[in-house]
Amino acid sequence: MGHNYEYMKRPLLSLRNIHKYFGKVHALKGVDLDIYEGEIIGLIGDNGAGKSTLTKIIAGVIRKDSGEIYLNGKPVEIKSVEDARRLGIEVAFQEMTLIDSLDIGLNIFLGREPLNQKIPLFLDYNKMYEETRKILKQLGLRTSDSPKREVRFLSGGEKQGIVVARAMLFQSKLVILDEPTRNLSVAGVRMVLDFIRSLKEKNIACIFISHTLHHVYEVADRIVLLSLGRKILDVPKSQYSVEELEEMIIERTMKHDISA
Ligand SMILES: Nc1ncnc2c1ncn2[C@@H]1O[C@H](COP(=O)(O)OP(=O)(O)OP(=O)(O)O)[C@@H](O)[C@H]1O
Ligand SMILES: [Mg+2]
Repeated sequence: MGHNYEYMKRPLLSLRNIHKYFGKVHALKGVDLDIYEGEIIGLIGDNGAGKSTLTKIIAGVIRKDSGEIYLNGKPVEIKSVEDARRLGIEVAFQEMTLIDSLDIGLNIFLGREPLNQKIPLFLDYNKMYEETRKILKQLGLRTSDSPKREVRFLSGGEKQGIVVARAMLFQSKLVILDEPTRNLSVAGVRMVLDFIRSLKEKNIACIFISHTLHHVYEVADRIVLLSLGRKILDVPKSQYSVEELEEMIIERTMKHDISA
């Protein structure tokens, strides 16, 4: 199986034979995936391949129809986002998981608000807005000037930046980033890619989804390619060039177009 030392260790997270249907659409057709501590997986594939569906199952946003999930070798049920977070899984989604009527700072700390040390049962708003300002500034986002702005007034790219900021602030055992670089400025992209590398240094695993293969290629250890709900490639990055990966995705898409 070409095991090297890293792959001999027990995976942090294992998915086995995962199936998901949306009505008649068979979105995941028996996917297996092992994720190791501190490993960066570049999850690629064309539109509708099942990338978001797979990661949403891991994150507890949607339920699988069948299959098993193991964390450190033990079977786990991930029924909600809270379950996933408790297990150390943090996600920044392609579609937003923000509450429009709340401001930026409150969205970042949603469900993890720090308590005020002086006034019992009160939240520490100063801390939330200060930390929010700091992290957004690090990301090079203009929103750092106004952590009290309601999220509904933000652009798509600005919202995306907030989700990335949240993932950065609450580093977990596994961070899932679904198109985190989309709509970001050049400096923002650089920050996200550096962030992904810094996760690795802290032994935090990451699943990084992007259509920008150059971004994936720059940081991933392993490339996993999905096509129409099936895993068709799972290799160390060094095995293919970014051009070859691009070619594989295009080839797959053309094959399906012809057979359809
Ligand atoms: N909530 C849903 N209801 C119905 N069908 C869905 C739903 N979510 C996903 N699908 C379908 O499942 C399949 C996989 O979709 P998914 O969003 O996982 O693809 P993806 O690889 O993330 O694509 P993209 O790169 O465009 O984000 C597609 O055929 C899609 O139409
Ligand atoms: Mg998607």
